[in-house]
Amino acid sequence: MSRTLPAHWLERTRRSFLRAGLVLPAVWAASRALAPTPACADPDDATPPTGEGPFFRPRSPERTTFRGPGDAGTPFELTGRVLTTDGKPIARATLDFWHTNNAGSYDHEGFRFRGHQFTDADGRYVLRTILPGAYGGMPKHYHVKLAGAGLALTTQLQFPEDVNAFRIDSRLLIRTATGTGQGRFDFVLG
Ligand SMILES: [Fe+2]
Repeated sequence: MSRTLPAHWLERTRRSFLRAGLVLPAVWAASRALAPTPACADPDDATPPTGEGPFFRPRSPERTTFRGPGDAGTPFELTGRVLTTDGKPIARATLDFWHTNNAGSYDHEGFRFRGHQFTDADGRYVLRTILPGAYGGMPKHYHVKLAGAGLALTTQLQFPEDVNAFRIDSRLLIRTATGTGQGRFDFVLG
């Protein structure tokens, strides 16, 4: 008895493997790339809060650049907007950022990698800093306290390259690709 398989069956099987092996990962990668920053279409899209943690220091200096000459670590520029749940920019919103140095240590005496700033008329902010270090079994992160339009939020932002090693809320992921040195996150206060 011949064991030759019909050509049309082989072709159908080949296409199935292609779909399973190539197309699905592409869709999966695309959905992961697009997921992080919430849209501002409905009130459920407010950026979720997280715990403040023990290392916030009040009265940080006003500045948009944390990175100084000679600072170790990979430069990183974070940009974005602060919006209401109906998508309107919040001008003069406060963002108070704090994070570790590249070795995972906070400055407890001074204000290294700490500072506050205000959004412009379009709700935009920019933070020029470095990639923080991980500590305490947690993924690297930027802490931030926001206030504007009578609303307040304390949360933290994390990085897509850490999602496979840690349990991370996809709504708090910076839109970035490893090695680009730039990322984006829009905060939605609600
Ligand atoms: Fe922290």
